[in-house]
Amino acid sequence: MDYFKVSKADGLNGIVKISGAKNASLPLIAMTLLAKNSVTINNLPEVVDIKTLLKLLENLGAKTVLKNGSATIDTSSVNDTKATYDIVKTMRASILVLGPLLARFGRCEVSLPGGCAIGQRPIDLHLKALEQMGATITIESGYVRAEAPDGLVGTHIVFDKVTVTGSANIITAASLARGKTIITNAAREPEVVQLCEILRLSGVSIDGIGTAELTIYGTDRRLLCIEPFEIIPDRIEAGTYLCAAAISRSKITLKKVRADHLESVLSKLMQMGIKIEHDSDTITIYPSKSLNPVDIITQEYPGFPTDMQAQFMALCTQADGVSTIEERLFENRFMHVSELQRLGAKITLKGNSATIEGSCQLHGCDVMATDLRASSALVIAALVASGQTDIHRIYHLERGYERLVEKFKNIGANIERLKE
Ligand code: EPZ
Repeated sequence: MDYFKVSKADGLNGIVKISGAKNASLPLIAMTLLAKNSVTINNLPEVVDIKTLLKLLENLGAKTVLKNGSATIDTSSVNDTKATYDIVKTMRASILVLGPLLARFGRCEVSLPGGCAIGQRPIDLHLKALEQMGATITIESGYVRAEAPDGLVGTHIVFDKVTVTGSANIITAASLARGKTIITNAAREPEVVQLCEILRLSGVSIDGIGTAELTIYGTDRRLLCIEPFEIIPDRIEAGTYLCAAAISRSKITLKKVRADHLESVLSKLMQMGIKIEHDSDTITIYPSKSLNPVDIITQEYPGFPTDMQAQFMALCTQADGVSTIEERLFENRFMHVSELQRLGAKITLKGNSATIEGSCQLHGCDVMATDLRASSALVIAALVASGQTDIHRIYHLERGYERLVEKFKNIGANIERLKE
């Protein structure tokens, strides 16, 4: 397996072009199962998770071509509705095909995604909602078997908890259902908003886009004609580079980024005393001599994103004082703590809260990536750790960060990808 060798940076400088959002791409790729035409998606990040979902669609009989960040996906040839364990086990977001497959074909089997490093991550809310829409759901031998031979019927769904992929599954299912579906307590993430916007542009009438209450008027299994579209910028990738600039006291500019998708992240950075300027599609962050400690609570959008929690924890090790981070979405999203502690970070955990004492000198050593965002936190910490840091199991990073080594090298980071 490969690893990253990272040495202390003498500050970063330059421009980072932000890629398309992984978490917008996945539901939109699944959505092509609702199309009668071949769909073109532009600005896709060429990362492992995207390739995995395209492979899943191909296993179902679809034709897909991914080249230079553009994919054409033709699902008219889909002749199978079983998403098998071998591929679902590599990416739990494969569950996103459940809604569209069931809505279009009236039946499907999707391997249970299982948990992952950050938590058990159940899909009970997805399944309960589909049952309310008339589906018969059974769990057998590790598979969700869903049947709705006469199609799904619109109804009023109230999510007990905000679920991003749960919302996406029901939005796509409701798009082909008979009648009106109201979703209360829907996720408001920009990735869910874009899914609704593309569906509306494709002929599905949707009210309340961007709010927690969506009303979707289904087409009663009439397939959609979906025009080419471009994936929104990845707000988590952008936030990751902002943390890298902040920790290394650097000035960098992000291009092709949506500052309005990052308000809670920019607010925390400014609370830390960092100067930030932005316009419609760029963000510039300036060096700050000192960093104020902060208190963070992760919440659903527009609150502080859980996907930025690990990166800020690395940053807080350099703040002048004690910071706290409370993780409210996942029960085990502190896997990066022990790795940061290996670098010398002074972090104590109590339940789902972390206390980070800063500022603390970090010292390079061998560390291990445990999940996608935890891995990026280790790269951020390694930029200021003395000496060399070797980050192992970097396959986690490849799932969601496009051309990470190239982008970091272009702004002056000392990072190499080497063979174990
Ligand atoms: C999405 O995961 C993202 N993944 C995650 O990003 C992100 O961390 C998460 O939303 C929260 O923002 C994609 O979009 C592909 P949830 P998702 O359903 O949809 C509980 C990354 O790093 N829950 O919103 O799986 C669940 O256990 C990844 O890019 C239920 O209890 O998250 C969690 O506590 C990591 N039952 C909370 O809700 C359900 O049926 C939020 O989960 C569904 C969820």
